[in-house]
Amino acid sequence: MTKRAAILGSGHYVPTRVVTNDDLSKLMPTSDEWIHQRTGIRERRFIERTGIGASDLALPAAKMALEQAGREVKDIDAVIFATLSPDVNFPGSGCFLAHKLGIPGVPALDVRNQCSGFLYSLSVADAWVRAGVYKNVLVAGAEVHSTGMEFNERGRDVAVLFGDGAGCVLVGEATRDGQGIHNVELHADGVGAQELWVEAPASMYIPRLTPEMFDEGRHFPRMNGKQVFRWATEKMPEVAHSVVRRAGLTMADIDMFVPHQANMRINQMVAAKLGIPDDRVVHNIERYGNTTAATIPIGISESWREGKIGPGSRVLMAAFGAGFTWAGSVAVF
Ligand code: ACO
Repeated sequence: MTKRAAILGSGHYVPTRVVTNDDLSKLMPTSDEWIHQRTGIRERRFIERTGIGASDLALPAAKMALEQAGREVKDIDAVIFATLSPDVNFPGSGCFLAHKLGIPGVPALDVRNQCSGFLYSLSVADAWVRAGVYKNVLVAGAEVHSTGMEFNERGRDVAVLFGDGAGCVLVGEATRDGQGIHNVELHADGVGAQELWVEAPASMYIPRLTPEMFDEGRHFPRMNGKQVFRWATEKMPEVAHSVVRRAGLTMADIDMFVPHQANMRINQMVAAKLGIPDDRVVHNIERYGNTTAATIPIGISESWREGKIGPGSRVLMAAFGAGFTWAGSVAVF
């Protein structure tokens, strides 16, 4: 049998501080009605205090994933950390997480592919395990967005969308026939690089951040929401069809679809294009907003614990995000 890699366990963690749409409407001109109607979001989580980084959120999620996989911290051979909001500019959050787990010497790789970051990381973990480079790879997706958004009229289109959270999976060798990551397909097109970005501080500018840039808010995320929406609803179905076909399956064979959670309307439109009924689609955007690299592993972890995913489940994942980047995968649990 060809060696196959599989998702052996998953975990998630979100901060305890719940921020509702009404809470946000006290900070800037917006409303529960506007946010819910356009995005499906009701509330999100924000870190409780200063000093909590993406690696802190990933730590409990990692322990949960290890427990579900029946592995211990000492079994981790490599860490891959997907985030667009690392604890600090450098070094990567993977180093912080590995240190907090107490695994000195274990390699730690950060992946900077925004909403597609988890699937990009899964692709690397899958290849490492299949090639026999590493046996047990911890893949984390974690974000602290709440400290980097502009809570006023200028930033409100973005500020209502994002939340903090973490999800992890442990990738190791498949042990059952049919089990495993069947494929991960990755794409990028830099034509959209400036449609959703945080421009500054930027190493291409001298100095990297000026008082004028600060006043203009160029250190906050800026987004062309309509363009992102259009691309997401085109590219996610495209890559989903491709990975399902390459896995030798049809959409009817998919037990659960875990889409990236950027907007409930995007999820519904993508699922409708794929012909997957809503009871087979994972949604948690109502409760967490967009947690970027964490959305898919949080979705997997919650669904696994709710019994919606179990041994033998055929799971489709798809994501679209800044870059532009997009990706899809089919895995049998
Ligand atoms: N509250 C109230 N009004 C708002 C808000 C807000 N939070 N934000 C914008 N508005 C206003 C706008 O100013 C605009 O007003 P105007 O008509 O007077 O000019 C009006 O609401 C409509 O704005 P639109 O941008 O046209 O609203 P749209 O229907 O496109 O919805 C949204 C905006 C929700 C952002 C949508 O475009 C979207 O979800 N796009 C996809 C975003 C996405 O997926 N981003 C994440 C990718 S993830 C990653 O990689 C990081």
